[in-house]
Amino acid sequence: MVAPSILSADFSNLAGSLGKIEQAGADWIHLDVMDGHFVPNLTFGPPIIAALRSLSRLPFDVHLMIERPEEWLELYRKSGADRITFHIEACRHSQRYLCIIRELGAASGISLNPQTDLDGIEYLLPVCDQVLIMTVNPGFGGQSLIEPVIGKISKLRSMIDNLGLKTLIEVDGGIDRKNARRIFDAGADVLVMGSAFFKDADPRSLVEAVKTPS
Ligand code: DX5
Ligand code: ZN
Repeated sequence: MVAPSILSADFSNLAGSLGKIEQAGADWIHLDVMDGHFVPNLTFGPPIIAALRSLSRLPFDVHLMIERPEEWLELYRKSGADRITFHIEACRHSQRYLCIIRELGAASGISLNPQTDLDGIEYLLPVCDQVLIMTVNPGFGGQSLIEPVIGKISKLRSMIDNLGLKTLIEVDGGIDRKNARRIFDAGADVLVMGSAFFKDADPRSLVEAVKTPS
């Protein structure tokens, strides 16, 4: 699957950007929430997500790059998030918050920064619908993928398969036409694409190309 991130969209025409994502044949809409504390950037919050919700039928995949995400889960769900991912580095009781996200009726997700290893993740996987592996330091679009992190995707793939779970692996940061196939081959299920998607002259062919097995 492909999940374009509206971080690289034209913020003065988000409605048009959602249409572009849908017309390109993408699967989810990735919404990057930043609080200026967990990451050195600010984006948008619940009111914007709520305003966009009725403009697309695609699932809203909300990536929370914020401190104390547990205080916000219910509000993001109410705003229209179908999938909610928070960062393992941002809180102490991740297992509890993954359960709360599911109780709210959304898919639960946990994200790992590039330097965070997989230790302890196996204990969270049974209540986790997706793990979001960051292949850049979160905060900005348009950065280059950090190559060594690809090894983490393969390790996580084996872990999930060995446990017989259905947890999805989503990968985010620096993904483009050239490296997408390698990320899928490493074991990813969902690729987030920000700048590569919105800069492409033909996003439909981009989505088609990255989804086509080599
Ligand atoms: C980065 C965000 C990403 C970002 C990816 O902090 O989490 O979702 O939009 O953008 P690209 O694809 O340009 O790296
Ligand atoms: Zn993201």
